[in-house]
Amino acid sequence: MMLRGGVLREIVYVSTPTRPIGDGDISALLSRAREKNERLGVTGMLLLVAGGFLQLLEGPTDVMDPLVESIRRDQRHTDLTVILQREIERRSFPVWPMGYRRLDPGDPKLKGFNDLPYRPADFVQLENAQGLAAKLLRGFQTSHR
Ligand SMILES: Cc1cc2nc3c(=O)[nH]c(=O)nc-3n(C[C@H](O)[C@H](O)[C@H](O)COP(=O)(O)O)c2cc1C
Repeated sequence: MMLRGGVLREIVYVSTPTRPIGDGDISALLSRAREKNERLGVTGMLLLVAGGFLQLLEGPTDVMDPLVESIRRDQRHTDLTVILQREIERRSFPVWPMGYRRLDPGDPKLKGFNDLPYRPADFVQLENAQGLAAKLLRGFQTSHR
């Protein structure tokens, strides 16, 4: 994937699916999303965890706000809440137009996240929501290089 240089922005949000998400729903969502991300020079990671979405998006600053607004309007989820937004020098997921993992309770990758709240709304109220999100997402970096 060709990536533009320039100033990069990272955005992490949580949201709640409006109905249970099946594998078919996800693959439809991802194929559109990956196509568009590739066009925009956006990469990142989407986790379906504890019944909620946790997504990290990274890309050229000027494309990020419109992208997040279009994702926010998507009826497949609701209550999109940005928990982290910052300028970055390097991407965490440079080769992925959008990685994806579904995590179920008991997944070994969730070890150490026993205090992960069930609902995104609770997640953002955590004192250390940013740190927790970062830690969770970092666990997927190496497998996505
Ligand atoms: C949880 C979730 C994550 C999404 N992630 C992305 C994404 O990373 N990139 C993207 O282009 N669209 C993403 N979408 C889909 C957008 O909401 C939208 O449907 C898609 O960008 C198509 O936009 P278009 O109308 O410009 O074609 C996501 C939707 C949901 C529900």
